[in-house]
Amino acid sequence: MPRPRVLSGVQPTGALHLGNWLGAIRNWVNLQDSHDTFFCVVDLHAITVPHDPEQLAADTRKTAALYLAAGIDPSRSTVFVQSHVPAHSELAWLLNCVTPLNWLERMIQFKEKAIKQGDQVSVGLLDYPVLMAADILLYDADLVPVGEDQKQHLELARDIAQQRINARFGQKDADGEPIPVLKVPEPLILKEGARVMSLTDGRSKMSKSDPNEGSRITLLDPPELITKKIKRAKTDPVMGLEFGNPERPETDNLLGLYAILSGKGREAVAAECAAMGWGTFKPLLAEAAVEALRPLQQRYAELSADPAELDRVLAGGRERAQSVAQATLDRTRAALGFLPVH
Ligand code: TYM
Repeated sequence: MPRPRVLSGVQPTGALHLGNWLGAIRNWVNLQDSHDTFFCVVDLHAITVPHDPEQLAADTRKTAALYLAAGIDPSRSTVFVQSHVPAHSELAWLLNCVTPLNWLERMIQFKEKAIKQGDQVSVGLLDYPVLMAADILLYDADLVPVGEDQKQHLELARDIAQQRINARFGQKDADGEPIPVLKVPEPLILKEGARVMSLTDGRSKMSKSDPNEGSRITLLDPPELITKKIKRAKTDPVMGLEFGNPERPETDNLLGLYAILSGKGREAVAAECAAMGWGTFKPLLAEAAVEALRPLQQRYAELSADPAELDRVLAGGRERAQSVAQATLDRTRAALGFLPVH
């Protein structure tokens, strides 16, 4: 039996933060033992908002290096850059032509980002989830490990595959059973870490695009900066720390981070911190964050010293990704009735 497939990706826009790590990348690492894993740096997605061409290539390398530093092992996983495999753009076009406009207009992330950009919103930003669907569907992914904020995009990918491609263009076998053109993927959203909130507002998620850098801890922040950001993190004046109080979103978030980063888990942390004040808790959280990130930061420094090695990894990843993606693209082209290339 072939192992089930996994595909996921992160945009190379700015520095990756604790949300990206705890909601996504950290969970990819364990899947490598049991699944056939594909991880791409989604650089085509990064240009759906205004971007700096001086920065794009460097951020793409940095993101790939962070995957490896976080424990993605190129001998077990296919690590590649989205734009190096042209099938992503091509399948996105085919999917564009069968996806109803109003499915995209109701995407929450589009609405949120579009509000910020006013009349500068690009067609690419609206189309972002279709490109994401292409990323996933090209690899016949069974599972897509992501944070909570990507749930709606995953549902869209499923609907496009099922309702717009398989139902319309799939064939039937001799017994009348449908032969799908595209595999319908499942999201994998773990409870812990799926929604890491901003350090300055417990009601909005930690995000790369928040102009306030104090709102997030990035994976390469030095220890002093991590400590400073946690020291300044928003809190409330109530004594004692608890999970699950809707009036205290910052408390819930910081305790949740401590539970994951210390490795102690929620129950132990709830007991440990029940009577604590912020003055005692914050240094504990800072230390847990610094220690959790230390090995990742060390590996990142080693990788940065050997850029040729990263190039080799990405070249090997591209080759493997390309062959899998091309087969799916050819199958989809055939199902849609395109004249084959001879
Ligand atoms: P991006 O770069 O915005 O986020 C990358 C991953 O990090 C997760 N994430 C979070 N998890 C918990 N708490 C947070 N505050 C937080 N912020 C971000 C995201 O859920 C995501 O898993 N559209 C994708 C990129 C993408 C993709 C794909 C993902 C493009 N094609 C195909 C999976 C499969 C995104 O949001 O990237």
